[in-house]
This record gives sequence, C-alpha cells and structure tokens, in this order.
Amino acid sequence: MLRHPELFSSSGWESRYLGQLPKEANSSLPNVYRHYGTKVVSNTDPPEHTRLRRIVQRSFSPRVIEAMREQVERLSSELIDGLVEGSTIDWVSEVAYPLPATMIALLLGAPVEDTELFEGWSADIVAFVGSGAPKMELALQEEQSLIAFREYLSGLIARARFDPKDDLLSLLVEKSEDGDALTDDELISTCVTLLFAGHETTANLLSSLTLELLRAPDQWDLVTSESGLASAAVEETLRFNGPVQRIRRVAREDVELQGIKVKKGQSVLGFIGSANRDEAVFEDAESFNIGRRRDANLSFGAGVHFCLGAALSRLEAPIVLQHLTTRFPRTRLAPSFSERYRSNMTFRGLESLKLELRR
Ligand code: HEM
Repeated sequence: MLRHPELFSSSGWESRYLGQLPKEANSSLPNVYRHYGTKVVSNTDPPEHTRLRRIVQRSFSPRVIEAMREQVERLSSELIDGLVEGSTIDWVSEVAYPLPATMIALLLGAPVEDTELFEGWSADIVAFVGSGAPKMELALQEEQSLIAFREYLSGLIARARFDPKDDLLSLLVEKSEDGDALTDDELISTCVTLLFAGHETTANLLSSLTLELLRAPDQWDLVTSESGLASAAVEETLRFNGPVQRIRRVAREDVELQGIKVKKGQSVLGFIGSANRDEAVFEDAESFNIGRRRDANLSFGAGVHFCLGAALSRLEAPIVLQHLTTRFPRTRLAPSFSERYRSNMTFRGLESLKLELRR
C-alpha cells in the first residue's frame, strides 16, 4: 500500500473526511477548507508530490539536521537539568511536549517564548484529524487555531524573505535551482503540516520511549550504563509503541490486497502499528527488546512519502534519553502513574507520564 502510489493515493482523504461535516460547515470553516484544499507533500501523489518534496527536502538535508544537534543538546539540558532530584514530574507536559515544540519554533525561526502557542495549535489540528469521524466542535477549534497560526506564519515568512537566516523556513522560501518555489498558500500549509507532523509525533515518541524502558528496568539499566544504546532503544520504541498508528490512502483502481477486494475510490487504512508487530518479520514481536536485530519497521512509513523528519527525530530522541539517564539514572514510574492515551486514531500518545526522579 505504501510503496504503490499509483494504486493508493495520498490525495482526497481529507476532502472526504470534511465531506462528512454538515453542509453549513463550509461557511464557518474557511481556513480549514483552505488548508486541506492546498497541496502539500502529505496529500499529493507523483508528479505533484515529487515537485513539492524536492522543494521541502532541501530544508531537511543531512547538513541542516546535523546543525540542529547542538540546539537539541542545549534544549535537553536546559529542560532536564532544571528538574529537581526526588520530585515527581509529569514527563509529558514538562519535557516531551515542550521540547519538540521548541525545536519546531527554532526551525521556523520563531522566538522560543512562543513555544506554548505552537503546542496549542498543534493539539487542535491533531484532535480534529485524528477523531474517527469529524466533529464540528473540533473543526471550529481547528479553524481558530489555523486563523492564528496563519497570521503568525505570514509574519515569519515575510521576515524570512526579507532577512533570511539559517533556519528551515528561510530555506523553504528560497527558490530552488530550477527557479521553482512554493506559493504563499503552499508555504503556509506546509508549515502547518510540519508543525503537527513534527511536534505530536516526536512528543509521543519521547513519552513512550521513557515508559517502555522504565517498564523493563533491565533495559533501562542497559541504556544507563551504556549511553550508546539510546538509539537502539529509540528504534525498538518506534516499532513496539510507535507514535503513528495508521496511514490513510484512497484506492485509485479496483485492487486486491491479501484476498480483500478494495474498490476504486474506497478509503484504505494501513495500521503500521500492527505491521510493526508482524511475527513473520519480527521474532518474538510482542516483546520489547532493545537488543533485537534491527529489521526495518514501518514507523516512518515507506516509499515516496517516507517521513521527512525521520532523521531529526532519530537525532532528538536519543539525546533526550541520554540526558535523562545520565542526570537521573534511578528514575522510576511514580505509583500514581496510570497508562492512558489521548483519544486519537492516528497518533498514539500518553496523556501523562508521572516519574519519580532519582540520581
Ligand atoms: C517520531 C517521530 C515521527 C514519526 C513516527 C513520523 C511518522 C511519519 C509517517 C508514518 C509518515 C508517512 C505518512 C504517509 O505515508 O502518509 C510521515 C511523513 C511525514 N513526516 Fe513524519 N514522523 C515523525 C517526525 C516528523 C518530524 C519531526 C517532521 C518535521 C519536522 C515530520 C514531517 C513529516 C512530513 C512533512 C511528512 C510527509 C512526507 C511526504 O508525504 O512526502 N515528521 N511521518
């Protein structure tokens, strides 16, 4: 499904989703319709996708990502060094959410003080698109967030054009070598996509990573004594309890998938969270084991839509884990912790993660 965009389209899912809202929604949700009606990497197929991806990919080159290492190191130590030994904290609200939101603010060249704004906008967008059927009250909330975010982004875009810096947005507004560039609407919708694709996912990864390791104390101890294992722990968390559970497509032709007939125009949901526990691919798939052989998991998708932010997340998450295990090596789950996830069918993220911090 992921490797055949000629059979399974990335386009059209949102318009069907919006089509389930009452007719009068049209007039009260102009920004929601405009956003989902604008072509971005995640809702197009080749050749449109190829054009957009070529432009956006420049902002995610290995050189750009590597340059972010220092910022991630600094942010992690600011957030984690400030925590107090012996205290009980909520890892989700105190570290896992603010850190990637700050990274996105930096990528867009926004002041870090505005991080909370990013968290709120991102939450509203994710809540609407992640519910089983579209809900008007969530759509109205997203409309408000899109109005505010669009206005905010217009200012940032104007600044990036006038006074380009080293950030992702400055690269994004530049023309490519062949003179191609994103239109203003494409630019804004791309930034909105980057915000929710990059924030919620990484935040959820930081939470499930910490949870899975603390639930398997022997593996937590391994990472604590050998920080080089942090990346293996991240990969295993992506497989075992990944932040994105499903991928949406629309069939472009009648097609048969493992004996199931899919008709042209039907929606198809690929549950990558389930594929990641396929016993035919992963030995003892139901157990969390950071020492397992690294077979490719599908957490970042596959094929032409493979996640643009994968390298950034793979850079961020091990650094945060190394800071936590170095500063508070005897951390444990607080007795008050209970495992509850936010209500969302695409993104899987803990509501809170109570930790007792110990050196
Ligand atoms: C652990 C963190 C992340 C996970 C698990 C994740 C997961 C995914 C998945 C599964 C897809 C494929 C969707 C599809 O095929 O329809 C995807 C695409 C995408 N991701 Fe991520 N993502 C993460 C982090 C990020 C970050 C940090 C950014 C940007 C700052 C980002 C930006 C994107 C974009 C722009 C796409 C669309 C690419 C395309 O359609 O060509 N992601 N991501």
